[in-house]
Amino acid sequence: MISNKTILITGASSGIGRALVHELAKERNFLIVSGRSEAKLLALAEEVSAPMLLLPMDVADEAQMLAAEKRLKVQVDSLDLVIMCAGTCEYQDGWQVNPSLHRRVFDTNYFGAVNTVRMALPLLKNSQSAPRLVGVGSLSSLVPFPRAEAYGASKAALDYFLESLRVDVAPIKVAVTMVRPGFVDTPLTRSNDFDMPFLMAPEVAAKTILRGIAKGKNTIHFPLKLSLTLGFFRVFHGFWSRIVAPKLRKQDTF
Ligand SMILES: NC(=O)c1ccc[n+]([C@@H]2O[C@H](COP(=O)([O-])OP(=O)(O)OC[C@H]3O[C@@H](n4cnc5c(N)ncnc54)[C@H](OP(=O)(O)O)[C@@H]3O)[C@@H](O)[C@H]2O)c1
Repeated sequence: MISNKTILITGASSGIGRALVHELAKERNFLIVSGRSEAKLLALAEEVSAPMLLLPMDVADEAQMLAAEKRLKVQVDSLDLVIMCAGTCEYQDGWQVNPSLHRRVFDTNYFGAVNTVRMALPLLKNSQSAPRLVGVGSLSSLVPFPRAEAYGASKAALDYFLESLRVDVAPIKVAVTMVRPGFVDTPLTRSNDFDMPFLMAPEVAAKTILRGIAKGKNTIHFPLKLSLTLGFFRVFHGFWSRIVAPKLRKQDTF
């Protein structure tokens, strides 16, 4: 159980982040909830009756992040837990590469995390309560999915960043957890036009993530069946790229 902590959650207004807020609010935590839309954060604060600071910011915008950092430092001296849920997904249209799309996805999923970590690390370092930084990646970074060039690459980059950072922040006693969910039923996935095996509710995803964090896990991947299947194909890569992945390709994109 995670209780009596000061916790920053980005991407808190929707989906997995919102479900995490609901769970963490039950356990006397002080929550700092973040997203771009202040209106959505206000709606969240009304839903959840717990002490909460709203920190609207676009994680992709360095100037906004510097302003948010100043507001945050007036309110708290330290953070015990930071969960980076802010994320976006855009799929490539067949074989046509769109650099702007790649930039948009990386700006939020990768540089957004870099900006958040820069802001949060000094405050995590001040924590007396086993501080932990948590990044939400994706099982999609295990094997290459068609049309997910930008999304999968941004999550693979996040993975590398945080795995590498884990080593560098060990001397300041900040732990790092990488979360790799499968398909979760949220606004992010609702427009997907393909089958999503083992689709799970955000409440289930949030409970799984919090159980893993409470156990001090370095990596949390779920659901187990999808994670094992993709892990198998990561090892037998040729089988994935020759047999499985082509079957997942959209047929009308030539
Ligand atoms: N759903 C899945 O199946 C799934 C699977 C694997 C991984 N994930 C990852 O889990 C995380 C949460 O996804 P979700 O499914 O819960 O998505 P979601 O319901 O669309 O929520 C995304 C959240 O991120 C915020 N956000 C988006 N862009 C932002 C930006 N530039 N700056 C600040 N906040 C931003 C959104 O609020 P505003 O719009 O107000 O900014 C919202 O609160 C993402 O990183 C996603 O890649 C999801």
